[in-house]
Amino acid sequence: MSTATHVAQGKVTTRTLLKMKEEGKKIAMLTAYDYSMAALIDQAGIDAVLVGDSAANVMAGHPTTLPITLDQMIYHGVSVVRAVKRALVVVDMPFGSYQGDPIEALRSAVRIMKETGADAVKLEGGEAAADSIRKIISAGIPVMGHLGLTPQSINQFGTYSVRATTSQEADKLLKDTLLLEELGCFSIVLEKVPAKLAEKASRSASIPVIGIGAGGGVDGQVLVLHDMLGITQGFSPRFLRRYHNLGQEIAGAVSRYVEDVKEGSFPNEKEQY
Ligand code: KIV
Repeated sequence: MSTATHVAQGKVTTRTLLKMKEEGKKIAMLTAYDYSMAALIDQAGIDAVLVGDSAANVMAGHPTTLPITLDQMIYHGVSVVRAVKRALVVVDMPFGSYQGDPIEALRSAVRIMKETGADAVKLEGGEAAADSIRKIISAGIPVMGHLGLTPQSINQFGTYSVRATTSQEADKLLKDTLLLEELGCFSIVLEKVPAKLAEKASRSASIPVIGIGAGGGVDGQVLVLHDMLGITQGFSPRFLRRYHNLGQEIAGAVSRYVEDVKEGSFPNEKEQY
């Protein structure tokens, strides 16, 4: 296979995202963890799909993202990659798979790329993750950074509140943004930081900055699919726009099914052999 035919026509690549930033076109990204949802959002025109470690919350019901394992992320990654034809697929590196030891980080990233067929990995942290990021990128693996609220550090912060609200933290965030670009990250997720700071970070970087709870002055947006579809319950931060009330619709459909089965109206004559 020649390099010219390696990438399917119309497929979004890391270069596409960079070009979108250069042309001032906004990037739309959502999470997905399974084949069916990934196929739907890809067909609907999403630019990038994040196989987020938020799977620990929305798929497995854990209160934090910490418990999800590398094997479990790979399972979700395989399911999503199988469904997606056009969007860029990024798989989150789970807690414990890259912190501390760059060689271990590279091993984890290689497993993700080899076993899922994803296009890139994402990991949390700035300066503290620099050695791991450098090592992973040196193997030709595209890395998306993640700054601001980094949920894998929840036990250090103790809260999911807005980050970088002091000038010292804001300066550190801007420094880390430039460091990630310098290390060769192709993009950065910026989570739950003041909009003005996020805009400044986006303007100072030549790689796309994709926000979640970071205002509209960045290069794109990412949301957790189950949050924006209204499937998750009891989670309504200010930044979340719900595009549907799917949770209620699902509950309604299921209760109608239960009623039909119990009263004997399902299946009817046309629904049997
Ligand atoms: O895991 C995830 O869903 C994420 C997004 C919140 C950006 O990292």
